[in-house]
Amino acid sequence: MEYVEHRMNDEAVKAAASAGLVSPLNILLLSIILYTGYSTFFAKTSYPQLPKPPPPVVFKTYNPHTLLPFNGENGAPIFFAVRGVVFDVTPGRNFYGPGGPYANFAGRDATRGLACGSFDESMLTKDLDGPLDTLADLGPDEMDALRGWEERFTEKYNIIGKFVSMKDFEELGKKE
Ligand code: HEM
Repeated sequence: MEYVEHRMNDEAVKAAASAGLVSPLNILLLSIILYTGYSTFFAKTSYPQLPKPPPPVVFKTYNPHTLLPFNGENGAPIFFAVRGVVFDVTPGRNFYGPGGPYANFAGRDATRGLACGSFDESMLTKDLDGPLDTLADLGPDEMDALRGWEERFTEKYNIIGKFVSMKDFEELGKKE
């Protein structure tokens, strides 16, 4: 008799415990945990991929020597300077890249060539260590043409730095 009582008590405790565990709320929680675990570790989720953001633009000071390598050769980016401002014209690779009609400006100070509408070699600053072109001899038409190009490039391309002579570059370096 004592055994039967004991057994009944045991069963009552078990029933109470299992009723508490197997509640609808616990089933729901368990399903959530199992689903989260599965989708984290096993399921191959295919979220739509956002396009890669462009690399950040670092504003820098360039001189005629440091601008030179950015001429688009061997996949290099293409920069040029116009009146002290450096533009990243890489998206215009068809114009300025190797073999392009305006490749002469790539990596150079393009100011005079653009103002005068000329690709002549003499338009490009010969002495890379000397002062920048002052444009002092240019007339109003040429300066107008230059402003037109500046407007166009400012709308179309990123400005990525300023362009200074070697002398100014060295002086800036001493101050920093
Ligand atoms: C024979 C005369 C020329 C013709 C037929 C010509 C033709 C063109 C054409 C069709 C474009 C493309 C325009 C566009 O899609 O936005 C262009 C762009 C350009 N042209 Fe000329 N061009 C000539 C002379 C010149 C000269 C003398 C210069 C300056 C030295 C020059 C500098 C440029 C530049 C810098 C661009 C590209 C601008 C950009 O990056 O969007 N062109 N040209």
